[in-house]
Amino acid sequence: MQSVAHQVGSEKLQQIFSTAEKVLVLTGAGVSAESGVPTFRGGGNTAVWKGMPFEIISSAGMLARDLPAVWEWFNYRRERLKALKPNPAHQAIARWQERFRQFTLVTQNIDGLHQAAGSRKVVELHGNLWRARCFDCGARHDLRELRVDHEVPICIDCGGRMRPDVVLFGEMLPPGAFERAAREAEQCELCFVVGTSAVVYPAALLPETARAAGAYVVEVNPEATPLSSLCDEVLSGKAGEILPMVGMSSVPGAVATG
Ligand code: APR
Repeated sequence: MQSVAHQVGSEKLQQIFSTAEKVLVLTGAGVSAESGVPTFRGGGNTAVWKGMPFEIISSAGMLARDLPAVWEWFNYRRERLKALKPNPAHQAIARWQERFRQFTLVTQNIDGLHQAAGSRKVVELHGNLWRARCFDCGARHDLRELRVDHEVPICIDCGGRMRPDVVLFGEMLPPGAFERAAREAEQCELCFVVGTSAVVYPAALLPETARAAGAYVVEVNPEATPLSSLCDEVLSGKAGEILPMVGMSSVPGAVATG
């Protein structure tokens, strides 16, 4: 029986998707929305903790003022995440790393769902919720290896106090992460921007950098963003429904419809 594929996107996208070697994908909270992770701004319900907007509880100022409160917030988010699974969008992106010679996945997400779906070498612009970093020696540890029964986890290397290995509001990105992403954006032929409101910089600069370097830029989002008008193509809808279908018409033996 011949499989039937519903073509998503233009002929041009199909053609570039089937010939491109250098591909960059930038993701935001929207790629995890169908897994049940709240987004910050559009689409899903927004995150507020004990009456404090996330910009406050997730800030460098709060870290200095009340480290246990910050840990309580991140412990709560990790607990909620434990039950959540990658969705078809994460899985499609994980498959793409085998398909393209030079594939780069850059994420603003700290939920680790890309890695849970099998994505490797993920450029994490905002850190990762499953890791802690020592204030004193800078060591990073997977929280699943640490005793988190104290208000504040203790570093197993030096005994120092640890903090979430997440970029908080008012903090710099991890050294080298953005630079690496920007280098790949300058070289890519095809750039997907998935599930981000594109209002947070410097992440939102990456599609602009790719576009300026001649890449074909495709946005996947159920809502328009400040980036939409800059993109070569906008696939309006949910990432979990759209990404698995991208390039389907280039599946040998499949019949394109729609
Ligand atoms: N598929 C694709 N996109 C979706 C979906 C979905 N199923 N559901 C919602 N979206 C879109 C929304 O329309 C919105 O444009 O995802 C976007 C989520 O935007 P934000 O909540 O602003 O998340 P993000 O862009 O990742 O935020 C950037 O801001 O708060 C900081 O550090 C935090 O990394 C975060 C950064």
